[in-house]
Amino acid sequence: KVKAAVFASGTGSNFQAIIDDTNLPCDISLLICDKPNAAVIDKAKEAKIETFVFSAKDYENKAAYEQEIVDILKDKEIEWIFLAGYMRLVGETLLGAFQGKILNIHPSLLPAFPGMDSIGQAYEAGVKVTGVTVHYVDEGMDTGPIISQEAVSVFEDDTKETLQQRIQEVEHRLYPQVIKELIKK
Ligand code: GAR
Repeated sequence: KVKAAVFASGTGSNFQAIIDDTNLPCDISLLICDKPNAAVIDKAKEAKIETFVFSAKDYENKAAYEQEIVDILKDKEIEWIFLAGYMRLVGETLLGAFQGKILNIHPSLLPAFPGMDSIGQAYEAGVKVTGVTVHYVDEGMDTGPIISQEAVSVFEDDTKETLQQRIQEVEHRLYPQVIKELIKK
């Protein structure tokens, strides 16, 4: 099996959904996390998945920490990168080393509502349909060629929390599904 790394900054529910899928065509060999207190680190520990945690402030610039990450990924022969709530722009160092091999999941129908708190943005805007997007990563924020999207209806009685819950259920199903379609065993 080819090897993949997940990059995450937060809770790690998408990380958990990916590693829980027993039919994945790749091994999730590494978690990369930029937040030393993130809950996703405990999830990786529980699953005995090796983790590299860094703080961007300890490095001179983005190229410096991304080069260290690239060195680790290459050393471990990792071929794919799945961003799952990695709240940081990917720079040219990582993009250049993993061209066409970096995916991201985003909780809206891009190009609508990119960036932070997309579910809150959609809720406040009063849209009747939002959703989930999986796309290739480029240098922009939640830009890059779209691979798959799934719509999620916003109901009259939704709160931001109930909407978030339905969107995350879709995320947890869609991301592993796209990974299976993209990576041949
Ligand atoms: C997910 O909803 C993901 O789509 C979103 O962060 C959340 C992370 O949750 N990503 C972005 O907004 C990227 N711009 P998780 O840590 O529970 O997987």
